[in-house]
Amino acid sequence: MVCLRLPLLLVSVLLFAGSVAQQTQSNISLGSSRTPHGQNSSWLSNSGLFAFGFYKHGDGFSVGIFMAGIPQKTVVWTANRDSSPVTTNATLQFTSEGRFVLQPTTGEVQYIGNINQPASSASMLNSGNLVLYSSNGTTVWESFNNPTNTLLPTQRLQAGNELVSSASESDHSSGLFLLEMQGDGNLVQYPSKTLVTRATSDAYYASNTFFAGDNVSLVFDANIYLYLLKSTGVNVMNITDRQYLIEDGIYLMRIDVDGIFRLYSYSRRSSNSTWLIEWSSSNDKCSPRGLCGFNMYCVLNDQEAVCKCLQGFDFVKKGNWSSGCERNFVANSCKDESSSLANNIEEVPNTSWVVAYPYSIQQVQGKEGCMQACSVDCNCEAAFYKDGECRKQRLPLQYGRRSQDDMDITLIKVYASTPHAEPCVPKESEERICKDILVISISLLSLGFVMLVISVVVLWRRNFYAYKKVNQRCQVVESTGNEVNIRSFTYEELEIMTDGFKEEIGKGSFGTVYKGTILNSQMEVAVKKLEKLLEDGERSFRTR
Ligand SMILES: *[C@@H]1O[C@H](CO)[C@@H](O)[C@H](O)[C@H]1NC(C)=O
Ligand SMILES: *[C@@H]1O[C@H](CO)[C@@H](O)[C@H](O)[C@H]1NC(C)=O
Ligand SMILES: *[C@@H]1O[C@H](CO)[C@@H](O)[C@H](O)[C@H]1NC(C)=O
Ligand SMILES: *[C@@H]1O[C@H](CO)[C@@H](O)[C@H](O)[C@H]1NC(C)=O
Ligand SMILES: *[C@@H]1O[C@H](CO)[C@@H](O)[C@H](O)[C@H]1NC(C)=O
Ligand SMILES: *[C@@H]1O[C@H](CO)[C@@H](O)[C@H](O)[C@H]1NC(C)=O
Ligand SMILES: *[C@@H]1O[C@H](CO)[C@@H](O)[C@H](O)[C@H]1NC(C)=O
Ligand SMILES: *[C@@H]1O[C@H](CO)[C@@H](O)[C@H](O)[C@H]1NC(C)=O
Ligand SMILES: *[C@@H]1O[C@H](CO)[C@@H](O)[C@H](O)[C@H]1NC(C)=O
Repeated sequence: MVCLRLPLLLVSVLLFAGSVAQQTQSNISLGSSRTPHGQNSSWLSNSGLFAFGFYKHGDGFSVGIFMAGIPQKTVVWTANRDSSPVTTNATLQFTSEGRFVLQPTTGEVQYIGNINQPASSASMLNSGNLVLYSSNGTTVWESFNNPTNTLLPTQRLQAGNELVSSASESDHSSGLFLLEMQGDGNLVQYPSKTLVTRATSDAYYASNTFFAGDNVSLVFDANIYLYLLKSTGVNVMNITDRQYLIEDGIYLMRIDVDGIFRLYSYSRRSSNSTWLIEWSSSNDKCSPRGLCGFNMYCVLNDQEAVCKCLQGFDFVKKGNWSSGCERNFVANSCKDESSSLANNIEEVPNTSWVVAYPYSIQQVQGKEGCMQACSVDCNCEAAFYKDGECRKQRLPLQYGRRSQDDMDITLIKVYASTPHAEPCVPKESEERICKDILVISISLLSLGFVMLVISVVVLWRRNFYAYKKVNQRCQVVESTGNEVNIRSFTYEELEIMTDGFKEEIGKGSFGTVYKGTILNSQMEVAVKKLEKLLEDGERSFRTR
């Protein structure tokens, strides 16, 4: 009997000691402060695992909560995460007024925590929660209710709150992705920056528990289990497949820089431990939408995501995926291209796009039929071909990805393959062809009982290369002969061009011709002002 009782007693004493330790708070006293340099740069939790204070961020420091008790100082929360790091002379103070104030050497004072009443005490709890209390012991503010990218065991993501990924492993400012506990009960992931409104097509993860109603929270419980819980205590859905409790483990759940949220464990048993992934919301690193910008597609290369520009496109900002891609050549007019139709469509195999609103869907004879349909259509910038169906598209294309088991084919119109071609310097014999005629027509509605339409025809002769840069352009015009470009000017612009219709240089059957100069250039033009509303009059002007 005695032999059996002793271990029981020991266990209960240990349990008691444990609960006492948890209740002992490491209080932060009013008026105390911390600086980035020296020994005391943070306030520790009683256990020594968590710290609130300065951590290194680039050349400077940020203020946040991090795990100080393990070799890999892991940041779990950052105050004012999108403000710039402070210098080594900054001070963090828990003022006598009961607020945490960060005083950088230059720039404005920052307050930490949006509180509506002063605190009388604060504590860095062993759970990793920083709590501010009022004089009667109620909670004024807590970091657990204002998460950045991480949840800790016992922390909940309340309805209407979100986790936003970090910009990079070392920069904890807001990154590209978010995980939101929506008010409708649905837990959803979206790109965080590019959206004006959040559409279903922008979501790349959803628990689909939109039926659950309001007040659903994402719970990260002490048994290392993620699930959705109603305020009534009803378990709506299990997010992880099981509990991930290990011996002497510490844990965190985080939306990572790559947009996937993961549950990590760290064993304190070995001195040599690292964070291990226990569970992930996805194993497909191309799944987070918004990783690749416009006109890019994502492809897995050895399980790592890579964003690539479509053929004929370049990065908007070199190497910056989220900036997207743009055409490396902009055509002046689709019509110019119509002579070289035959081979201006390129194929991007096994690629599909999530956000795609075709303006035309037609049945075609194979891929070639789709190529032809897009080729002859000036509105068509790209087309998707699958199973005899051709979907014609305008730009930009979004959320593209390539996968070997995807049957979709993207067809993309390419305007020129030589963006840095020799400038078009016409030879003597070609000069005739490399000239252009511009016809300008404007309409002006005047008040009163007479509707007066003034049409102005501007003609000039000028070497073509002045505004078409690439050799190929010139050849296009050469082959199409008398190409006519139409462009409009406002009446005011024409007035300025002709200096108020000052210098008359001729009179015709429908109006007077004035001398003018094209804005921002030295090109001389003849401007003809139509004085009668006559349809065939305008026509006769266009033909000079
Ligand atoms: C810390 O503050 C709490 C709440 O104000 C108080 O109950 C507790 O006794 C304090 N602990 C210590 C060690 O001062
Ligand atoms: C750091 O804090 C400890 C205990 O809080 C104190 O004893 C020590 O004097 C402080 N050191 C400095 C440099 O402020
Ligand atoms: C910050 O501190 C350094 C020495 O640590 C000093 O040289 C520098 O002048 C200080 N800067 C400001 C703005 O006070
Ligand atoms: C605690 O004080 C706040 C105001 O400081 C008050 O709103 C609240 O009702 C008080 N709570 C209790 C339990 O006395
Ligand atoms: C949700 O919570 C709010 C405030 O806590 C409460 O007023 C509301 O009745 C709750 N709704 C449901 C369905 O529980
Ligand atoms: C979640 O998992 C627990 C334990 O594995 C189980 O008892 C419960 O029924 C599950 N809840 C739902 C909604 O599936
Ligand atoms: C630490 O880990 C490395 C490789 O993971 C191993 O080579 C080394 O022996 C380990 N050291 C200890 C003390 O476990
Ligand atoms: C990449 O481009 C985006 C949008 O153009 C911009 O917001 C972001 O700061 C850029 N990132 C880097 C690392 O330059
Ligand atoms: C991927 O594209 C290639 C080339 O177009 C094609 O041969 C292959 O069938 C495609 N894969 C699937 C699964 O459709």
